[in-house]
Amino acid sequence: MQSDVLALRGAQKRLALDAESFLASQAVDASALSALMKSHSFILTLDEVRSALAESSKLPPPDPIHKEHGSGAHTDGLMSKGEAHGSMSASQSPQASSSNSDSPLHEKAEPERKSIETIVSRSPTYKPLAKEYAPRIKIREHTDVSGQSRCVGTVDDFVAYFRDRFERESMILRQHQTNLSTIRVDQISQHTGEEVRPVVMVSDRRITHNGNLFMEVEDEYGQMKAIFTSKERNFPKARGILKDDVIAIDGRMGPNFFSIKDITYPDIPLLRPTKTLEEDLAIAYLSDIHVGSKLFLEKSFRRFVRWLWGEEGREELAGKVKYVVIAGDVCDGIGVYPAQEKELSIKDIYEQYAAFDKLMELMPDWVEVIVSPGNHDGVRRGEPQPIIPMELVRSDVKKIGSPAMVDIEEFRHLVYHGSSLDSVIANVPGLNYQHPENAMKEVLVRRHLSPVYGENPIVPERRDYMMIDEEPDIVHMGHLHKNGLLKYRGTWLVNSGTFQDRTDFQVRMGHVPTPGIVPVLELKSQQFYHLKFMEGGL
Ligand SMILES: [Fe+2]
Ligand SMILES: [Fe+2]
Repeated sequence: MQSDVLALRGAQKRLALDAESFLASQAVDASALSALMKSHSFILTLDEVRSALAESSKLPPPDPIHKEHGSGAHTDGLMSKGEAHGSMSASQSPQASSSNSDSPLHEKAEPERKSIETIVSRSPTYKPLAKEYAPRIKIREHTDVSGQSRCVGTVDDFVAYFRDRFERESMILRQHQTNLSTIRVDQISQHTGEEVRPVVMVSDRRITHNGNLFMEVEDEYGQMKAIFTSKERNFPKARGILKDDVIAIDGRMGPNFFSIKDITYPDIPLLRPTKTLEEDLAIAYLSDIHVGSKLFLEKSFRRFVRWLWGEEGREELAGKVKYVVIAGDVCDGIGVYPAQEKELSIKDIYEQYAAFDKLMELMPDWVEVIVSPGNHDGVRRGEPQPIIPMELVRSDVKKIGSPAMVDIEEFRHLVYHGSSLDSVIANVPGLNYQHPENAMKEVLVRRHLSPVYGENPIVPERRDYMMIDEEPDIVHMGHLHKNGLLKYRGTWLVNSGTFQDRTDFQVRMGHVPTPGIVPVLELKSQQFYHLKFMEGGL
C-alpha cells in the first residue's frame, strides 16, 4: 500500500520504480515491512520486496535469475536498481572476469550473470563528498528550444533565421577592437582605395586557377565580389572559410573586387579569467550510450555506475562527482538509418527508453543527471532539438534540449550533441574524426554550432539557437564516439566518447571509436581525468 511506501521513505529507504509501484498495490504485513526497513541495501529492488513478502508467505520467491524483462536478448544484462549498486565486488565484476568485449553479442554473459546476482554489501567506509552539497544547476532557457519552437517552415522563417544569425554574429564582430571603419557593403564604393572592414556573410567561395580565393559576400544592404590572393601574408586563414561563414574582411575596394588583406572570425576572447570552485566537486561527461543497440556496452556502463557508488576504485574522485551530463544518443532509436533493426537488441523505442530509465535509476541519489538528445533519440532530427519527451524518459533526470546552455556551479556549459561535426570535418581542411576537439574548436571560432547550412538538418526558428552568444566555460559534445579534449582560450572542449562498441559502419569507414572512457573534471583543481571502464584498472 502507499502507506508502506511512505513508511519506507521515512526510514530513509529508496525504492526502485518497479518495486515502488508493486508495493503500492500490495498489502504488506508488518514482518515484511520490518525486514525491508532493516535491509542493508541503499535501494530496494522488486526482487528484494518480493523476497521479503515471500518470507512472510505472501508470495512465491523470485526466480534466481531476474526474469523481469522476459527472454528478449536485449534484457540479458539488465538488472534492477539494487542488484547493480550493491551486488558486485571488483573481483566479481564482468570486466574483471572477462577478457573479451563487453558487447551483448558475446554470448558468455549468462554464467557471469549468476555470479553478479550475489548481494554484497557496499563498503561502509565510502563517504562521497558530493553527498554533502546541494546541486546548483541553472538552465539558460533562452538558449534551449524546448517548448519554444515556433517554426512552420515558411520562406519567412528561413529569411528570419538567416537575418537573426547574421545580426548576432556581426554584432560580436563589431565589438572587436580595430582601427578600421566597419562599414556597410552598399557604402563600400564611397570608400574606394581606403582600408575598411565590412562584416559579411559568405554566399559563395571558390579557389581560382591561380590559387586565389574568390568569394561572393553580402550583408543586409548589398552584395559584392571579393578576392583574397595567395600572396597575402594572412592567406592561410582563407583555407577554412566556409559558405555561410560570417566574417569581417579587412581590405580595400578596387575597380572590380574588394581586395582582402585579412579576415576575422567572431571567435571567443583571447584572455578570460580562469574559474575554479572552492568545493572539491566533479562532473562526469557522457554521451552516445546507445541503449537498445546490440553493441551497447552495458557491463562497462554498469561498471561506471558502480564506480560512482565507490565500488570500483579511485573512490576519492568518484565521491566528488556531483553531476553527470549526457550529451545525446542515449538510446539507439528506431529507423535512424536503413536496416538498423538488424543491429538492435531492443526493437521498441519505448522499451529502449525504459531500459535507459532503469540504468538512470541505478545512479546514486546525490548525483544530478542532466540529459540532452542526439540524432538517435526520440525527438525531431532537425536542430535545435527539444528535450526527450516524458513518454520516453521518465526517470528522475534533468532534461535539456540540444543545444542548451546550463550553469553548473559557476561553470557555463554549452551542451550540444554534435551532429553538425560531420559536416564541419568534411568541409574544413585539416580536420578528421580522430580529433573531435579540433572540429569543436572550429564551431567555437565561428560562434555557431552548425556553420555549414544544408548539410546538417536545421529547423529555421526565428531565433538561431545554434548561435553561441555567450562564451562558455565548457563545451560538451559527443556524436563522434571518440574522446577528445582541448583547452582553447580558457574554454574546455570535451568530447565524451561513447558506450557503444565499434559498429560495422565504423569499421568500413576506418573510424576507431574510444568506447567506455569517461572524462571527469575536478572543478577545484580544473584537472580532467579519463577513466576507462571497458576492462582493467581505471
Ligand atoms: Fe552516437
Ligand atoms: Fe549521434
